[in-house]
Amino acid sequence: MARRYSLEKFPLGGNVENYQPGILAPVPMVGRYLNFSLRAGVEPRQSLLELIKIADGTRLVVGIGQPATFALKRTVPGLRPFPTQFGAGLVVPSVSLALWCWLRGDDRGDLLHASKKIVEAVSQAFCLDSIIDGFNHAGGRDLTGYEDGTENPQGNKAAEAAIARREGAGLDGSSFVAVQLWVHDFKMFESMSSQEQDNAIGRRKSDNAELTDAPSSAHVKRTAQESFEPQAFVLRRSMPWADGLRGGLNFVAFGRSFDAFEAQLKRMLGAEDGVTDALFKFTLPVSGSYFWCPPMLGQKLDLRALGL
Ligand code: HEM
Repeated sequence: MARRYSLEKFPLGGNVENYQPGILAPVPMVGRYLNFSLRAGVEPRQSLLELIKIADGTRLVVGIGQPATFALKRTVPGLRPFPTQFGAGLVVPSVSLALWCWLRGDDRGDLLHASKKIVEAVSQAFCLDSIIDGFNHAGGRDLTGYEDGTENPQGNKAAEAAIARREGAGLDGSSFVAVQLWVHDFKMFESMSSQEQDNAIGRRKSDNAELTDAPSSAHVKRTAQESFEPQAFVLRRSMPWADGLRGGLNFVAFGRSFDAFEAQLKRMLGAEDGVTDALFKFTLPVSGSYFWCPPMLGQKLDLRALGL
């Protein structure tokens, strides 16, 4: 029988529990990311109402980009375009997408059928730009072989990092997700010695132990969440992706705002001290988008903030 992942729900300290459950649930065995842009001049009201009928927040997590909120003449406080500059003299890619659908499951066939339904439901206003197929690799490792997600906040702390509250009805329970497609240069990575690789991440691949003497360019030194002021916790739900011989990480970070993610990326780019994250030696982002993940009202997406 097919293995079904179980959905864990974490209480939000007596406050709200109306977030899309798939955000806090463990990373699934397979995932599919559908990236949509907005058709010129089309108001997305009808398409979003169709989407509400099929989005359960668990097997399908939905994010809405600023082009869609603008077309509805609405503003979601905190939702903004993905920045291209972080003060480091480097430009990172930013793609202005209108809709992001993260399909979660354990069977690729199911995800294909669900994708077709979604594309059809929203086709009046949204145009499918790209599909990224994600999967679980070696029990939760990036394609470089390093465990990913070790320092993610857990339980209530995960909800605290990822879910907005005290923002009012229609916004409480929402989340802000940063998505970047990273493409690995496997040839370059494999040319590095295992010590160079461990130093680039700041952890030992063999046992995931954190290196005490890692260089300041090590990825986990750049991004150590407790080292920021204020502390910069996000909930990472990234998945490896592959297409033919290309592959990498579809980086996905949920936050109660984009601030923590921006603080981390800024430091990775060397904006504070001129030290660039060693990750950039063997991998590069080729996209970058921000989305607002609406809360739930009962079993359905709550789009009151968009006037729906
Ligand atoms: C290809 C891109 C990336 C790869 C392969 C990667 C891989 C990893 C790995 C292996 C770890 C150590 C284990 C863990 O705690 O998860 C880690 C930690 C972390 N990464 Fe990344 N990462 C990537 C991009 C990013 C980006 C773009 C950000 C944010 C801007 C980020 C933020 C973090 C954070 C916050 C931690 C935990 C740091 C801590 O508090 O110890 N990562 N990453």
